[in-house]
Amino acid sequence: MSSKIAVVTGAGGGIGSAITARLIEDNFHVVALDINSENLKKLESNFSTNITTFNVDLTSAEKIAEVFKSIKAKFGGVDALVNNAGDCFMSEFPNIPAQEFDKQMAVNFSSAFYCSQESVKLMLERPGIKKIVNISSNGAYNFDVFDPPHYRASKAAMDTLTKDLARRYASEGISVNSIAPAMTESPLFKVLSDEILSKAISQMPRGAAMKPDEIAAWVGFLISSAGDVSSGNVIILNQGRDVR
Ligand SMILES: NC(=O)c1ccc[n+]([C@@H]2O[C@H](COP(=O)([O-])OP(=O)(O)OC[C@H]3O[C@@H](n4cnc5c(N)ncnc54)[C@H](O)[C@@H]3O)[C@@H](O)[C@H]2O)c1
Repeated sequence: MSSKIAVVTGAGGGIGSAITARLIEDNFHVVALDINSENLKKLESNFSTNITTFNVDLTSAEKIAEVFKSIKAKFGGVDALVNNAGDCFMSEFPNIPAQEFDKQMAVNFSSAFYCSQESVKLMLERPGIKKIVNISSNGAYNFDVFDPPHYRASKAAMDTLTKDLARRYASEGISVNSIAPAMTESPLFKVLSDEILSKAISQMPRGAAMKPDEIAAWVGFLISSAGDVSSGNVIILNQGRDVR
């Protein structure tokens, strides 16, 4: 078994499964967390070694604490965390129900917050430079695209967490960065109407959405030793769409 441990949230999804594949290729043992048990089973059958899965609802801080207790008992620590779990709820302001707002923040932001708290405790005991990569969204910065305000705000909160933790743990060897992709082909596209989807794809300069592997390659780079010197950055991936 690989000795380096990477926790990936939302590991069963489009971008999460590409990140999982990339980190296994890079010789990590991946602890894959997701609420979708079918997708976790697919991951287990795709990778015979170097994967451990936990079926968990990451909107619960208590469940997150339990999972990290098991990770500590089984692996002793964590070297990398990728906060990738997310969803995009599409009600529009000023008619967003309170329950939807709370769920949006819980899935996208609170999950990353509590997984980071638990991981940092386990990272401080590990040698070398440890990594947290937060999967944000270009939607937090581009106000011409469709993203609803609670989705944007959840990702902006995540990017502020990135900067806070980067500063807080700079001298303790934990590097924290965000990757903020624009349109990336994944099952999440199902939340969009055909009209919104085709408009958003036509706004991409290369006329096509990006691929999960392309995002995973940047995660792999940040987690590799080449990424050691980067911390506190929000890296926007959008084929140059928003350059003016
Ligand atoms: N696809 C895009 O165009 C795009 C663009 C910008 C940012 N992102 C971000 O990328 C990340 C990955 O999204 P994706 O496109 O792969 O979508 P996806 O729907 O394929 O994957 C999301 C994963 O998160 C999991 N998840 C959702 N709620 C959960 C919960 N409560 N507990 C545990 N797991 C949960 C889902 O089961 C799923 O496996 C998300 O944070 C998303 O906001 C995606």
